[in-house]
Amino acid sequence: MKSDNLFPLLQWYHEMGVDVAICDEPQNRFIVKEPIKITPVKTETTAMAPSPSSSANHPAYSCQSLEELRQAMMSFTGCALKETAMNLVFADGNPKADLMLVGEAPGADEDRQGLAFVGQSGQLLDKVLGSIGLDRTKVYISNIIPWRPPGNRPPTTAEVAACQPFIERHIELVNPKILVLLGGVAAKTLLGTAEGIVKLRGKWQSYQPTPTSPVIKTIATFHPAYLLRSPGQKAMVWRDALTIEKELSSSR
Ligand code: URA
Repeated sequence: MKSDNLFPLLQWYHEMGVDVAICDEPQNRFIVKEPIKITPVKTETTAMAPSPSSSANHPAYSCQSLEELRQAMMSFTGCALKETAMNLVFADGNPKADLMLVGEAPGADEDRQGLAFVGQSGQLLDKVLGSIGLDRTKVYISNIIPWRPPGNRPPTTAEVAACQPFIERHIELVNPKILVLLGGVAAKTLLGTAEGIVKLRGKWQSYQPTPTSPVIKTIATFHPAYLLRSPGQKAMVWRDALTIEKELSSSR
């Protein structure tokens, strides 16, 4: 194809939702491949593999500072999302803040800038925080997954499990007075429940990153991206914000 004809093709890709190149070469998905032969492995007993979050040799656990944690995430090879993302999105805000928020995973703007919640969702989050007198100098924000899933798809269970020790250690190192979980993925992952966000939101819970770390007062609320799609739910989040404000002022 002549290069002056490429623009309509790119435009078509964009309209179809293709916004990231995963491989340098196109893959023909219509080729029928030989089925992979699986040879069963003989084992005496079938034991459950320890989940990554409980596996003591995950690199997250040996990190003694946020900088060490960032370096460990940079050299981590256990999550393929890193291959398609432009940047590691570690966090944004003030790591000494009393309030830490945890979202799901970076979007396109966060991926480009390497900072959490800087896109449209982040702007809405800033408005909610502003309504209770907070800004990025007074909160710290990170995500369950530090690399953007291609096309903003939800992270898989395996991706969440691979990255969970990083956010657990991240919270433990920051040790905020109050933790806010934004959306169902953050709430279910860190509270270890299958309960949906509608049931979880607005109630104080206890979260302990490890059995030896201090218990942190934790509350879940709707994700700002959900509010952008369902503005009728904003009142709930504003109510949760007032609950957080009250708790913050009584903890000072
Ligand atoms: N959504 C998230 O969950 N996190 C971000 O950083 C941005 C959008």
